This record gives sequence, structure tokens and C-alpha cells, in this order.
Amino acid sequence: MANKRTTSADSAWAQAGIDLHLDLRGSGLRAGLGEALREAVRSGRLAPGTRLPSSRTLAEDLGIARSTVTECYSALVEEGWLVARHGSGTHVAHRAEAARAPERSAAPPRRSPHELEPGAADYAEFPRAVWLSAARRALTAAPHSAFGYGDPLGRMELRTALADYLSRVRGVYADPARIVITSGFHHGLGILARALRGQGVGTIAVEAYGLDIYRDVLSDDGMSIPALEIDEGGAQVDALSALEPGSAALLTPAHQFPLGFALSAERRHALLDWARRTGGVVLEDDYDGEFRYDRRPVGALQGLDPDHVVYFGTASKSVAPALRLAWVVVPEHLLPAVERAKGRVDTVSVLDQLIFTDFVTSGAFDRHVRGRRHSYRARREQLVSALDAQAPEVRVVGMPAGLQAVLQLPEGTEASILEAAARRGLVVSGLSEFRHPDAAGSPWGSGLVANFSSVSDSAWPAALQSLVAAVS
Ligand SMILES: Cc1ncc(COP(=O)(O)O)c(C=O)c1O
Repeated sequence: MANKRTTSADSAWAQAGIDLHLDLRGSGLRAGLGEALREAVRSGRLAPGTRLPSSRTLAEDLGIARSTVTECYSALVEEGWLVARHGSGTHVAHRAEAARAPERSAAPPRRSPHELEPGAADYAEFPRAVWLSAARRALTAAPHSAFGYGDPLGRMELRTALADYLSRVRGVYADPARIVITSGFHHGLGILARALRGQGVGTIAVEAYGLDIYRDVLSDDGMSIPALEIDEGGAQVDALSALEPGSAALLTPAHQFPLGFALSAERRHALLDWARRTGGVVLEDDYDGEFRYDRRPVGALQGLDPDHVVYFGTASKSVAPALRLAWVVVPEHLLPAVERAKGRVDTVSVLDQLIFTDFVTSGAFDRHVRGRRHSYRARREQLVSALDAQAPEVRVVGMPAGLQAVLQLPEGTEASILEAAARRGLVVSGLSEFRHPDAAGSPWGSGLVANFSSVSDSAWPAALQSLVAAVS
């Protein structure tokens, strides 16, 4: 009987021992044996519950003193890797499984508590419970056919819900048949670039400050992308008259990214006049149009001329970038070209579209945006007052709106202030990073682009303090 027990435990050990290639010489016998056993448990070669050979058997097998094995077993029992059961030997503990989990799965990337880079948001505020309820309702109501491939232009329920939402909240003229669902603005912009290219458009003017990834989408498609300078009235659209007829222009009219100005009423009209006169196309990136803090947001440009403006909206700022959900409202004459450029495959999960439809139609989207607006407004006000009090030479540029602010710095100080910010663990961007590479000079000088929406409520006071200290 004793022999039988020893044999089954020994065979488990023998297997593990072969895999371990135990070489205990020179490594300190007890330490070496301990590490070899831990590794066997971690890697799963010794499963939880496995009985280990007796100390005598193992000592004989390895040619070491029995006391070395006994001490090693006792240490591993104390550490929680093994359990000693009176009368039935030593076993691999079940807890050891939990102990090995962190080693197996890669640690999630850690965000700095002071990450104020544009593009991020306070992910702790994602409405998880509301989203789960929307998911439950949407999946319960979905017809069986919803689990198949979807319409490449997007689910009609969502396009209808967005048409209502966009006309109510942003003054967009939106026929559901002209809405295309995309996997983020970036995706939609690429589709439009291809569609316009196919129509013979070779030039899309862009704002002289903006994100390089969007400039790259256009230039990768072979577009020439001249820059429009920015002043307090937004993009200087009069420069568009110099372009060849039938060109396009990509703008952020509600809230210039990143400088934060609204396109003036005069320029809105001048822009649309240009488009009508020359057969031009305006691409309106309304990325954060819901977030205006001093008054109701000015409606989208598209509502004034749906035949010359392509409207882009996204859930990335209002809810979360992880959704990869965005929408494009396309002028009727461009729809066939956009359909061709989008291709015949659906690119956004049908189930996510149905959940988002419920989120919009149930009023949860409005409530969420209202809550976020309230919080972002307060943070922006705190930022402005802290700078007024502690760094009066630093000005916040642009309107009270959006999720980020440009802090205009004394001339020539951008690099040194970025270094000071980095020393304080702050992740912020320099304004010059957003400058169009072909645009001359840097009319807005030195600046920081700081996202005041990206850290949690609890981290915000310290992040604000560091930011103000870095620029003071
Ligand atoms: C200027 C601008 N447009 C659009 C977007 C949204 O892009 P996407 O929908 O691809 O996340 C962003 C997000 O950071 C942005 O900064």
C-alpha cells in the first residue's frame, strides 16, 4: 500500500522532473529545488491537487539530503504553493493557481494618473450599467436575422435613431438613407477621401493646426493638402478661392481642433458660398459638437447646405473611443461614390450598432452627454481660474467648449515647459506637434494642448496642480 502511494506520486513527479531538467548543483540545493517546484506549478506542469513524492523518495531521486527536501516543502507550504495534509502527504495548493495568474497574463498597460493627452477621455465614466441594460434590451429584441452579416452602410435602426438625434441636437439635415455608419471618424474620412478621389478631386485643404493622422489619411490617398491658417474666427476660408474648382476642405467648424475657436458666422457663409460657386465639398468634422459650456452649441454647418457639406460625427468624445462608432451624413450626389468606396462588407459590429441604437432612443445618450458636459465645464473653469491665480502670463485659448484646452505660453518656452511637465509625470502635448508641416512659421507660438477630460475625478485635482505648476 505504502509502495503504491509512493509510485503514483513518483510518476507525477517523474513527469514534472523530466520537464524541469532539474539541475540543482551549484544553485544552492534548497533554493534551486524551491524555484524548480514553483516554476513547475506556475507553468501548470504540476496541477493543483497533485501529490508530491515523499521527502525520502525525492531526496533519493535527486541524491540530496532528505532534510533539504523537508525544509523546501515547509517553505513552499508557508508561501502558499503547497499544502501539507496530515497523513496524506504534500500536495500542490489550489491557491497556487491564482498565484500564477498574474504571471501568465500580461499586466494591463498602466495609464499615468496625469495623462492629459488629447484623444483620451475619463474611461471610468463609461456608463457600464446603462450600457449593459441597453445590451440586454437590444439582444432580447433583435430578430434572428440580426446575427448575420449587416448592411455595409449600417443598421437602418441606428441610422434612423441618429437622424432624429442629429437633427434635434446638432441641426443636421439627416435622411437615414444618407447616413453611413463607420468604425470611427478616421475610417469615415478614409472612405470619403477614396470616394472624392474617384470623382476626380485632387485637393483637400486642411486646417493649419490639426491631427497628423487625418492629414496622413488624405495624403496617403494621393490628395494634396494645402493648409488654411487659423485665427480667432476659425479657419481663414478666403484662401480656398485659390484652389482649383471642385476641391474639398476638411474643417472643425464648431470647435477648431486643437485651438478651440468656432468658425465665425461670416466665414460659415463664405465657406458655403465657395462650395456652391466652385462645386467644392466641405467635410465637417463635428467631433465634440455636444460640448459647449457658455451657451447652447451652434448648430452644424451641414444644416445650412446639406448638398455641399459632408457631416462627420463620432461616439469617441461623447461616449468612448473603444466603441469605434461614428457616422457620416453624405450629400445625395456623393452617395453612390461613397457606397463604392465603403465596399460591400459591413465594418461595424451589428450587435454594437443595435445596443447603441437603444442607448440613443432610450434617452441614455442625452443623459450621459449632459452629465459629462457638467463635469467638463467644471474642470475647464477650474483650469482657467487656477491659471489666472497662479500663472497669469499663460492664457487659455479658444471658447469654453470641448475636452481639451490650448494653454498659450510665453514665446520660446514650449520645449522647456514640456520637459518640466514630463518631470512631474504629466503627459501633455506641445502645440507645435499639431502644426501642418508645410505651413510657414507658427502664428500661435508656444503652447500646451491639455486634455482636461482624461483623468478620473479623484486624480483631477493633483493633475491640475501639476499642470499649473509646470507652466508657472
Ligand atoms: C479632431 C478630431 N476629430 C475626430 C476625432 C474622432 O476620431 P475617431 O472617431 O476615429 O475616434 C477625434 C478624436 O480624438 C479628434 O480629435
